[in-house]
Amino acid sequence: MISLSDLRRYKAEGRKFSCLTCYDASMAKAMEIAEVDSILIGDSLGMSIQGRDSTLPVTVEDMAYHTAAVRRGNQHALIMTDLPFMSYATLNDALQSSKTVMQAGAQMVKMEGGAWLAETVQVLTRNGIPVCVHLGLTPQSVHVFGGYKLQARTREAADQLIADCKAVVEAGAAVLLLECVPAQLGQEITELFPHIPVIGIGAGAATDGQVLVVQDMLGLTFGHTAKFVRNFMKEQSGATAILDAFKAYHAAVLDGSFPAPEQTFQVEL
Ligand code: KIV
Repeated sequence: MISLSDLRRYKAEGRKFSCLTCYDASMAKAMEIAEVDSILIGDSLGMSIQGRDSTLPVTVEDMAYHTAAVRRGNQHALIMTDLPFMSYATLNDALQSSKTVMQAGAQMVKMEGGAWLAETVQVLTRNGIPVCVHLGLTPQSVHVFGGYKLQARTREAADQLIADCKAVVEAGAAVLLLECVPAQLGQEITELFPHIPVIGIGAGAATDGQVLVVQDMLGLTFGHTAKFVRNFMKEQSGATAILDAFKAYHAAVLDGSFPAPEQTFQVEL
């Protein structure tokens, strides 16, 4: 089973790693066969599984249910689970929510935020819970942003995001996840922290790992598709098409061909 030390080793060796969201055992098994390195049980399940408008209604119990299903289906990938909206608003909430998803099978929790999470990160880490901090476009704050938009578009905003990363890394964050930021910023942050694996989604090709929502990369998202998505099903056919799409994604992340320039945001900072 892949561990946090493996992700750190991959970074030290310059080996990229793949990550996909997953919510059920059969997809998790296909990802195991395809050797996808890590799985995120994302609160995106609010939209992709539950059919809601945002991630806000998702509960800790939902996250634990899907984490347990994924763990039963996959013994290979590192499993990271989102703490949903308002489930880490206080230190006690964060401890209780993390306990629930870790006992369901997660190896790491993910929280959305910045420097203000430093104390929470420190307390969880001291309690043996590795934390990934998700920065940039953080969907739980969609009503603050007023939509799902590119973040950190100016040098000033990029420097603020870097300061947030430094604060959570100093507090003990094990992994950073950057969503929807200019490729240049993804590269700056990845290079700034030689011992912290950085995962990107719409953060350019330089991050150590890449993540996509599984429905997006299988072409099962109808309506608007984000710029950073590639449909890996397009090239596949036959009974093993889904498995082959996962294999193609894993290979494209590792050989650096995903994301290509058309899936990245090029903004000069
Ligand atoms: O919930 C989720 O799927 C996520 C990814 C978009 C990174 O947080």
